[in-house]
Amino acid sequence: MIGEKEKSGRRIRVINEMKLRLPAISENEATARAMISAFAAGLDPTVEELGDLRCAVSEAVTNCIVHAYKGLPAGEVGYIYISVRLYDARRISVEISDNGCGIEDVERARRPAYTTGEPGERCGMGFLVMENFTDFLSVKSRPGKGTTVLMRKNFKP
Ligand SMILES: Nc1ncnc2c1ncn2[C@@H]1O[C@H](COP(=O)(O)OP(=O)(O)O)[C@@H](O)[C@H]1O
Ligand SMILES: [Mg+2]
Repeated sequence: MIGEKEKSGRRIRVINEMKLRLPAISENEATARAMISAFAAGLDPTVEELGDLRCAVSEAVTNCIVHAYKGLPAGEVGYIYISVRLYDARRISVEISDNGCGIEDVERARRPAYTTGEPGERCGMGFLVMENFTDFLSVKSRPGKGTTVLMRKNFKP
């Protein structure tokens, strides 16, 4: 499998990968979390590390379900695309994408307590949780096209 070169020049190798495509319905928050944590078990993380990863994944998937396909006509369903890689350096990467409405201003969306959700229902802490519970977070979005969230986590040696 292909490798990736780190900034330091060190080459880290992909040892396993998984792709999922799930309808953006609320049941699939639990599905995605369970599938990813089962897959991550291949790197033998601690209970705490796995808990952190599960929280981060939940937030990203929930955003696809709650926000991305908000304007879709009744009866139509959008999809969540998930790509997970395990690396030999005890690193996992999880990429979660949608083809939904996108985010106009990503920097603003990432600010704590910023939400476009229903008042009282959302608290605008999702991106903060993703950032705090992983080692790397990137959010790329194009209005009208969709959003891609990439997270990396390094499990302790
Ligand atoms: N996948 C997405 N598609 C469209 N908009 C999104 C997506 N993810 C996040 N957003 C936007 O970013 C805001 C902040 O997200 P987040 O920090 O998870 O807070 P919350 O979900 O509680 O609103 C959301 O309210 C929404 O406007
Ligand atoms: Mg959220």
